[in-house]
Amino acid sequence: MSSTNFRYRPFDEAVRHDPFPYYARLRAEHPIYRSDDPEAWVISRYDDVLHVLKNTDVFSSDAMTTVMMGIDPRAMMDPSIDPLAIENMMALADAMPFPVEEMARSRNLIASDPPQHDALRPIVNRGFTPRRIIAWEARIRELVASCMERVRSGDGCDIIADVAVPVPVIVVSEMLGVEAERRADFKRWSDTLIEGITGSRRREGFVKSGIVEMMREFATYFGEVADRRRAEPRDDLVSVLVDAGDEGGLSPMELVTFVLILLVAGNETTTNLIGHAVKLLLEHPDQLDLVRRDPSLVPALVEEVLRYESPIQMLFRRARRDTEIGGQKIAENEIVCALLGSANRDERIWERGDDFDVRRESHAHLAFGFGVHFCLGASLARLEARCVLEALVEELPRMRRRSTELEYVDSNLVRGLRHFALELAA
Ligand code: HEM
Repeated sequence: MSSTNFRYRPFDEAVRHDPFPYYARLRAEHPIYRSDDPEAWVISRYDDVLHVLKNTDVFSSDAMTTVMMGIDPRAMMDPSIDPLAIENMMALADAMPFPVEEMARSRNLIASDPPQHDALRPIVNRGFTPRRIIAWEARIRELVASCMERVRSGDGCDIIADVAVPVPVIVVSEMLGVEAERRADFKRWSDTLIEGITGSRRREGFVKSGIVEMMREFATYFGEVADRRRAEPRDDLVSVLVDAGDEGGLSPMELVTFVLILLVAGNETTTNLIGHAVKLLLEHPDQLDLVRRDPSLVPALVEEVLRYESPIQMLFRRARRDTEIGGQKIAENEIVCALLGSANRDERIWERGDDFDVRRESHAHLAFGFGVHFCLGASLARLEARCVLEALVEELPRMRRRSTELEYVDSNLVRGLRHFALELAA
């Protein structure tokens, strides 16, 4: 990586295992860097990332769907610019049980800007009030206790499959009121979507990457759940959403999108936070020792893992008008890629940012975003991670990694381990 041949592409698989040296170079030498694929301005310093996330009047979140779905926004006007995007949209429209016009009009929480966003967010906020989240603690601890049986059994375990996946998936399923027994499907749907839009299958198109089939299955399944709740409401999020829909607030397509966002956002990210926490504790026995001796450090541990190995590494925005970042002109409609994973290591904010240290003050990290789109599930994720890690720190000193190989989730945007096998240390 000499200065002349330095190249960074947000979705480049070569960057996946260790993006941090690239981030350090970007921050030091190219803080506003032009990526050619996707065409975007890559922002890597903390203050610049914060500026982009804060200013929703200048930077639109609609890029969260266009870039992630691989759509060149100009293709809507001129299909010849991006035939794959058009093919994707047609295939999706064919598979979904909604009229094309309804799909085209459909709003989506993550990709909307104020004032539209102000109308959508309160619909789900109801399920995530501090009182509601705290009420989940007993159930989370019960789930953790049952997952810990496998960890303690002495037969070895995979922290991802045995603990980090089931806890968030079961919690979010129960919150929504969908059958936790279908959790293998939820996981499969969520993996297909993440790989298809942010991973190696990104350029394959929605039919080949399985997204069309996954969306068909999801919409069919969820349509049935929504019908049941409409007939017989319960105290769950799907009933709340169905109710909001029937009051004229949400179209059936918007309802499906809401639930999909909650299922995907609520699972994968928390899984990855827990997985990386375990990896980091085993790699830093001094830090494990600190937390074990003083469990009141667990919340600080959670924040430091979020900072150090941010489960969402980047967000996308579109300039709504001509603007400037750090002296670089950004033209209207140009895309900005805000690297949360880099901002969270920025040496201008954190001394020795590349060191993992549970004693540091990490709360200002941007792992949950910032401003109007600040993660809706942040307190739930923190609570789940805290309950899991409080139980695990007791066991980890007796355990070691079964293999030194690391397999990452197939995505550069979502950062996490696919497996992390442990066994009892001899
Ligand atoms: C460690 C776990 C998590 C991380 C790192 C994380 C990260 C993020 C980030 C960075 C955003 C901002 C997106 C943007 O600005 O474009 C976000 C938004 C969101 N997150 Fe999370 N998330 C986590 C867990 C959860 C959970 C458990 C849920 C729900 C069950 C959830 C639901 C959402 C939703 C609905 C949004 C969209 C909010 C909006 O646009 O107003 N997340 N999350």
